[in-house]
Amino acid sequence: MAQQGRARRPMMAANWKMNKLVAEAEEYVAQLLPKISGAEGVDVAIFAPFTCVAQVASMTQDTPVVAGAQNLYFEDSGAFTGEVSAPMLKELGVGAVIVGHSERREIFGETDEAVARKTVRAVEAGFLPVVCVGETKEERDSGKMWEKVSGQVRAAFEYLDANRVDGEGIVFAYEPIWAIGTGEVASPEDAQDAIERIRGLLEELGGEDFAGKVRILYGGSIKPGNVGEIMAQKDVDGGLVGGASLEADSFAELVTGAARES
Ligand code: 13P
Repeated sequence: MAQQGRARRPMMAANWKMNKLVAEAEEYVAQLLPKISGAEGVDVAIFAPFTCVAQVASMTQDTPVVAGAQNLYFEDSGAFTGEVSAPMLKELGVGAVIVGHSERREIFGETDEAVARKTVRAVEAGFLPVVCVGETKEERDSGKMWEKVSGQVRAAFEYLDANRVDGEGIVFAYEPIWAIGTGEVASPEDAQDAIERIRGLLEELGGEDFAGKVRILYGGSIKPGNVGEIMAQKDVDGGLVGGASLEADSFAELVTGAARES
């Protein structure tokens, strides 16, 4: 059921991860756009691999869908083999960027320091950063969930002057690692609990107005069948979706589901 006076505009974001060739990306966007044209009141973003960001950006140019990238580097140019910078993404029409996804942190060794530098670079470049935080199963089971998540949130603020950043200009995503790609979704209560605590910490770091405006998404095994109960939670402002975002049909269902909750 739609909530009375939702505080923040909901957001539904597709993280394609390392999937889709250019032709597949084009087919997906062509299928998706008419399916979500009636979904009002929800922001939609597609985080595509670098190789098809340009196509997604040009196909969504005159639509409400934001084209996003899954990573960026914090320097603008130089001897950084394999990296992609903010100006390079700007040129393609990118509007948002994922920072510190757990797969980057865990598989590619991305540190809190790198995440902090990328976050501030993304904000300065005018992108909407989606900063990801989340604990492993071992950390949750040993009662260290909040130690991990609060540490990541604090670290992301290392170079950010919260007084100069509008809360609408940054998004956080709480993605418990044990729920990513496992089919084991966090309970709506656990998602709410973690996200409410993150918002409380953001208030400490950036003030009440800031924390009240920042959108915090949940990510981890979101599907059309569970999106409603997750989105119904007071502090959950949307979803960052992997597997269920890969088909235009199911992502469209998630967008319309989020619009119903808006
Ligand atoms: P799944 O939706 O496949 O669990 O992935 C979540 C995620 O990592 C989104 O960034």
